[in-house]
Amino acid sequence: MLLRGVSISPIPKSTQFRSRPCPRTVSASAPTSSSVTPSFSISDQSLESKGFVIKHTTSDLDLDQLNSIFVAVGFPKRDTEKIRVALAHTDAMLWIEDVRRSRPVAFARATGDGVFNSIIWDVVVDPGYQGIGLGKAVMERLVDELLRKGITNIALYSEPRVLGFYRPLGFVADPDGIKGMVYTRRPKK
Ligand SMILES: CC(C)(COP(=O)(O)OP(=O)(O)OC[C@H]1O[C@@H](n2cnc3c(N)ncnc32)[C@H](O)[C@@H]1OP(=O)(O)O)[C@@H](O)C(=O)NCCC(=O)NCCS
Repeated sequence: MLLRGVSISPIPKSTQFRSRPCPRTVSASAPTSSSVTPSFSISDQSLESKGFVIKHTTSDLDLDQLNSIFVAVGFPKRDTEKIRVALAHTDAMLWIEDVRRSRPVAFARATGDGVFNSIIWDVVVDPGYQGIGLGKAVMERLVDELLRKGITNIALYSEPRVLGFYRPLGFVADPDGIKGMVYTRRPKK
């Protein structure tokens, strides 16, 4: 899916979506960077009043706890060291901590070329915290951060059951008929 409103360039052929894809493309095009004024559905202050804090760095992110959220939502369990490497190669990332329990409860990240294109990965909310606006909170802030960097071609993969989550955030499936394609390694015979 691509973000609505910005010129859409074809999904780069070099992009081989091998992380934890949400397997259907969705993309979003958006207004340009500097004029964007964030209007989040829930403010940082409101989140804090509910015991949540937004974090933008990995310094105090417990990767084992993050991994356990991935597993809890049905993503495959990953090698924590590989998650560390992936995060080191991530352009934009944020997560939400439940301050009382001192643990991550929501997460999203984006990789890209830093100028034109970005792809969002690993959008997750701990099942015990879903349905209270945290997924929207991380997505709104992640997209805002990318737009502020001037990145206007923002894409992601969406599982069919989650399309309705991304659409109100500005993402459009198959814009101009563009289809995402994924290289799949053939099993050895
Ligand atoms: C998808 C996910 C990130 C949504 O996070 P969440 O915190 O539960 O969602 P929110 O509470 O922020 O919901 C925001 C809005 O999206 C809607 N929404 C949430 N999940 C939805 C879904 N699967 N389909 C349609 N709408 C959805 C909510 O009703 C809410 O609508 P509103 O703004 O009109 O009230 C979360 O359910 C999750 O982690 N799922 C498992 C992992 C996953 O599938 N990730 C995406 C991979 S493609």
